Amino acid sequence: MPLAEHNPTRGLAALLFIVSALLPVPQSLEASQAPQAAPDGMTLYEAGCASCHGSDGRGAPADRIAFEDPLPDLTDCSFASREPDADWIIVSKAGGPIRGFSDVMPAFEEAFDDDQLQAVMDHIRTFCTDRAWPRGELNLPRPLFTEKAYPEDEWVWTTGVNAEGAGAVINELLYEKRFGSRNQIEVALPFGFAESPAAPVGRDAGPASDWGVGLGDIEVGYKRALVHNLATIFSFGTELKLPTGDEERGIGEGEFRLEPFLALGQILPGDGFFHLQAGAEFLGETTEGFWRAVLGRTFTSGEFGRSWSPMIEVLGSADVGEGSRSQWDLVPQMQVTLNTRQHVMLNVGVRFPLTDSDARSTQFLVYLLWDWFDGGLFDGW
Ligand code: HEC
Repeated sequence: MPLAEHNPTRGLAALLFIVSALLPVPQSLEASQAPQAAPDGMTLYEAGCASCHGSDGRGAPADRIAFEDPLPDLTDCSFASREPDADWIIVSKAGGPIRGFSDVMPAFEEAFDDDQLQAVMDHIRTFCTDRAWPRGELNLPRPLFTEKAYPEDEWVWTTGVNAEGAGAVINELLYEKRFGSRNQIEVALPFGFAESPAAPVGRDAGPASDWGVGLGDIEVGYKRALVHNLATIFSFGTELKLPTGDEERGIGEGEFRLEPFLALGQILPGDGFFHLQAGAEFLGETTEGFWRAVLGRTFTSGEFGRSWSPMIEVLGSADVGEGSRSQWDLVPQMQVTLNTRQHVMLNVGVRFPLTDSDARSTQFLVYLLWDWFDGGLFDGW
């Protein structure tokens, strides 16, 4: 029915409608015309989540729910702050089992779209009100050598094997524990086998000629996140190395060493990231400056699958004083998450000496990392 002939107002409206449909619509206008207003996270949370997680996020009382599985306390900053939105969205979309959690946690894929789930996350983020806690997004993949700025709860076992020349197998068992919102303490226990007195055991194993087996220099450390926002974290830390190693055997330096440093973690666009660490090592009369930089990017295989993080790490150091040359190494590596919960990871890399390569061996390195706060070593596979 030709509307215009009967009702000029409706005719005009129809004409305007057709014209507006043909005109290119500015992006922002188009967005604002899309399904009403931005989703209201609180309303969606109340409708979909509060029956189990409680309106306040602490979990509904046991007599109001029909399952036994413990509910997380979403108001607990120590727990909530370290979980990145992306991980929680995956669990909310696909249900608990996608990350090795209980199947009582339902999948909301059909009920909520991505924008709505993000709005729910934004609402959940209001439960922890203490901004001192750095967000889990800043917990970037861990390089082989560079200390991260993010405070962590983890066990890391690193093994390095010299590829050529004198043999040396180094191991380091590292334990890190967070306390408070920004602090972390760590203890590292190096041990290994080296072929000569010249081969220190630890992260800096070098060349070596007569096999030595034993404990290296135990290291204790403290780290504190000084400032952070959603993209950057900057920390200060210091490590003390104790002369527990067998110096004769080339495992340890036989002296106390103090190693203060600054560390930066930066999120880059497109799942990229960047780490920087710079510091000094005070060993008796000598002082060595060191700097480490890492560029990497995380890829996920499959929508909810594992994370692959190729990284390129550059290590530099130089004795402070006249006539000393700087030493450089390049360490390409790949970190991969091993289990469904993604809290057990492997990193494999090769350390190529760029300077003094006659005296220093190429080294193969691997670590196994267990983020113990997220569950037992054998949970979530
Ligand atoms: C039927 C009850 C129920 C409902 C409804 C529910 N959850 Fe859960 N949720 C659980 C349980 C139980 C767990 C704990 C699973 C575990 O630890 O094994 C859980 C865990 C979670 C976790 C994982 C936390 C972690 O440990 O990392 C997130 C995130 C979450 N729920 C978000 C939501 C959101 C968002 C909604 C609403 C859109 C929702 N849940 C609705 C029961 C529920």
